[in-house]
Amino acid sequence: MQTAGIHSKFGIPRFEIDELIRLLKNANADVIGIHAHSGSGILDPDNWRSVAAELIKVAERFPNVEVIDLGGGLGVPEKTGDPPFDLEALDETLGAIRKAYPQYRLWLEPGRYLVAQAGVLLSRVTQTKGKGDMRYIGIGTGMNALIRPALYGAYHEIVNLSRVHDAATEFVTVVGPICETGDKLGSDRLLPPSEENDVILIANAGAYGRVMSSNYNLREVPPEIAI
Ligand SMILES: Cc1ncc(COP(=O)(O)O)c(C=O)c1O
Repeated sequence: MQTAGIHSKFGIPRFEIDELIRLLKNANADVIGIHAHSGSGILDPDNWRSVAAELIKVAERFPNVEVIDLGGGLGVPEKTGDPPFDLEALDETLGAIRKAYPQYRLWLEPGRYLVAQAGVLLSRVTQTKGKGDMRYIGIGTGMNALIRPALYGAYHEIVNLSRVHDAATEFVTVVGPICETGDKLGSDRLLPPSEENDVILIANAGAYGRVMSSNYNLREVPPEIAI
């Protein structure tokens, strides 16, 4: 997900820094921290090296800056076999930045990385159907329980726990029960043929899952079980 550039609502572009300085002077305001947020789910620790380099260039225009906030968020592995985020490489990168610029306190915003993998959403298949070439699996809960796929197309791995030993032979779209076209948990997923009552797991639901759930369409929020 990208949050940089003029087509994103966030931040102040570098080419408007002169104007910003003018406005700050008029407002008699002082800048003690500079922040960038280049995106979410960033897997390349080197990203923060370039963010730091840019922020430090900007900080040179603001003599009272104490904090450089490099933003976030750290990448969460999405698909089976994706490598985990390399924390050691990040540590090295941050160490090098800190060493080069000891005058600044460095902040980082890990984001969903901290809890995303700690939770899964479980639901049962309520119906299966075909429409021409398309196959749909309907499950008992949807965008009210996990809004990320509907809201911005986030990818969450989907597994049929009742058929983990069966061959995955069907491309299916997994949908919730809500009367909204966006109520999809995943499109074109290769799964074993599923049947009513199978248990479906939706991974990485520990962040922005339960806390962002709602009674949209009078649907119940699934109970949360901590193990
Ligand atoms: C200011 C800021 N920092 C960090 C993050 C990263 O959070 P997450 O990885 O949970 O999306 C976000 C969200 O995109 C954000 O808006």
